Amino acid sequence: MSTNSTLLETLPEDSWTGDFAPDTVSRATAALEGGQVLYFPHLAFRLEEAEQPLLSESVGDGKSKNISFDPARGILRGAAEDVAVSRALHGVLDRFAKQARALVSGALPGYKDHLEWGLTSYRPARVEGRVTSWRKDDTRLHVDAFPSRPTRGRRILRVFANLGESGRVWHLGEAFEAVAGRFAPAARLPLPGSAWILETLRIVKGRRSAFDHVMIQIHDRMKADQGYQEQAIREQAEFPPGSAWIVFTDQVSHAALSGQFALEQTFFVPITALAKQETAPLRVLEKTLGRGLV
Ligand code: SIN
Ligand code: FE
Repeated sequence: MSTNSTLLETLPEDSWTGDFAPDTVSRATAALEGGQVLYFPHLAFRLEEAEQPLLSESVGDGKSKNISFDPARGILRGAAEDVAVSRALHGVLDRFAKQARALVSGALPGYKDHLEWGLTSYRPARVEGRVTSWRKDDTRLHVDAFPSRPTRGRRILRVFANLGESGRVWHLGEAFEAVAGRFAPAARLPLPGSAWILETLRIVKGRRSAFDHVMIQIHDRMKADQGYQEQAIREQAEFPPGSAWIVFTDQVSHAALSGQFALEQTFFVPITALAKQETAPLRVLEKTLGRGLV
């Protein structure tokens, strides 16, 4: 077997529910907040027999890259117009959302009462060979930032699981402190009033803080910088079939190299719930730029 990335913290659990031992909780929390990926090689998300046909690209509407589900409202988007398919997708995404929340609550109990639902997504398309604009190209190293959904410093915590026989390969790049030092100083701060305009015109859900403004530029500048994409240090991380992983994608530089049929759940975590706030992108950027950003 090939050696996997040193940025993975491996956990042997094979169940999505249940509490973790206290020493595992502290190890998992420190690893995650320190910029590692919590990797569960034996944590399979299982499809029922009747759900197996969902392992096909044709379950999507052909327009959206992913099928998304809003667990807070129970709304499914991007599914093909077929009652049986959308009902099955609804069932799988709802179940995955609940299991992902149970996993995070068990492994990271400090976050449990503070987790805010983001979207659930099913990614049936093959990662490799997908043609997109550079800004949407997740095969380039980047940290996540949402242009239309400001976090105002909250963390982006994501749970991924492979489905069926699919594995996924990522690259993991340099630490966030290094990314911030390289890309943040050149970022422009928002013009006074621009956040109000974006919110009022409903281009953006809620008000975009200076933090969001800087994070979006870091995301774009990383992806647009061809020299950086070719030269930045990275490690390959392999997530085989039947595995799952948890990662702060606002902090960990990542690129998806290959894979198909993955589920993903996003949570927002306020930085007051972290064991160590100083590792949060908000705090790192405030330190790098020498000013408050929210
Ligand atoms: C990403 O957040 O960059 C996408 C990762 C993936 O789909 O594997
Ligand atoms: Fe990403």
